[in-house]
Amino acid sequence: MSATYESIKERNEKVLMRTYGRYPLAIARAKGARLYDFDGKEYVDLLAGIAVCGLGHCRPELAQVMAEQAEKLVHVSNLFYQEEQLVLAEKLLATCQADKVFLCNSGAEANEGAIKLARRYMAKVRGSAARDILTLEGSFHGRTLATLTATAQTGKIKDGFGPLPEGFRSVPFGDVCALRAAVNENTAAVMVEMIQGEGGVRPLPAEYVDALLALRREKDFLIIVDEVQTGMGRTGRFWAHEHFGLAPDIFTTAKGLANGLPMGAVMATDEAARGFEPGAHASTFGGGGVLSAVAAKTIDIIREERLVERAAELGAFFQEEARKLLTKHPDKIVHVRGLGLLLGIELAAPGQDVWRALLDAGFVCNLTHEKVLRLVPPLTIAREDLSAFLAALDGILGRA
Ligand SMILES: Cc1ncc(COP(=O)(O)O)c(C=O)c1O
Repeated sequence: MSATYESIKERNEKVLMRTYGRYPLAIARAKGARLYDFDGKEYVDLLAGIAVCGLGHCRPELAQVMAEQAEKLVHVSNLFYQEEQLVLAEKLLATCQADKVFLCNSGAEANEGAIKLARRYMAKVRGSAARDILTLEGSFHGRTLATLTATAQTGKIKDGFGPLPEGFRSVPFGDVCALRAAVNENTAAVMVEMIQGEGGVRPLPAEYVDALLALRREKDFLIIVDEVQTGMGRTGRFWAHEHFGLAPDIFTTAKGLANGLPMGAVMATDEAARGFEPGAHASTFGGGGVLSAVAAKTIDIIREERLVERAAELGAFFQEEARKLLTKHPDKIVHVRGLGLLLGIELAAPGQDVWRALLDAGFVCNLTHEKVLRLVPPLTIAREDLSAFLAALDGILGRA
């Protein structure tokens, strides 16, 4: 008997730990900006595996690189030099002002590495006792013990996992005075997302970033930018920190890096990277041949197809069109925001019904903070798909 949504759901309950609240949908295959369920129903994918598949699903060029590399070199360990890692690191460094890269497997692992690097830099290079990591309320940095502690949110994410690591403090989002008051001689780093993704698509106010930079000059802590979600062109610049004129000491990325394969990276200035020496940090699978080759090809395609510029243009188009809906439905939509193709439409009331109606109409997006429809489509998505989504939303809001 062929698989159905019900049969998949039932098997899932039996064998997988119950960590995910799943959508009422089982995906059988995916291509470009389309998902297909087990009945063959087609969905426009405005989620891209939560900001992961920037080039769309199942790109033939990436499948080819994957297959070729799988026959050449998959894993030998980081005891050996491997050219694939160098090709990737050189391409990554050409996109930013950082000088060194550490390759790993996920966003949380990248952030964990960034936190470790900041602390160790303070301890070993500066000889300083500063260990505290300051993060912003509403942030999301991952699910390892350190990164969930860094994540300044309440609720299930921390509940029952104590004792949590020490040395993490949070400050209110966008509050310059609170930041000034919180930074002291124990501050190793301030860690921020330029746009909080899980936190409801909230860009940091420009004045806040200016104040953060001024404070760094004064107090000499490190700035870590979490670009796990915002990196790889998603916001209309290769890195979101470019929008703000901020040069981080350390920044991380993951989601879009290998277009769906599990890969993360920590990037740092030469100075900050002095915090690690051989033996200080490692990852068995980090920078494996297949991952590195696919990530390098992903960067090539982003460049060749000018997808960073495309994200900026499509994002501006979307926001302009979505604002027309806001004018038309002022009682239903309260805010349209985002940068590039990291977009949020904040509804006036909890949006579960709207989200569900969109799904039934064949549009997959995400609802965060109960009221924010978050869209992180492939950077390759057609303009017509964005228009069709807005037309569907218009119809649903008109009926509600
Ligand atoms: C900003 C940010 N940081 C870190 C993470 C954690 O990444 P991962 O799930 O790959 O560990 C996420 C995941 O959503 C994220 O959005």
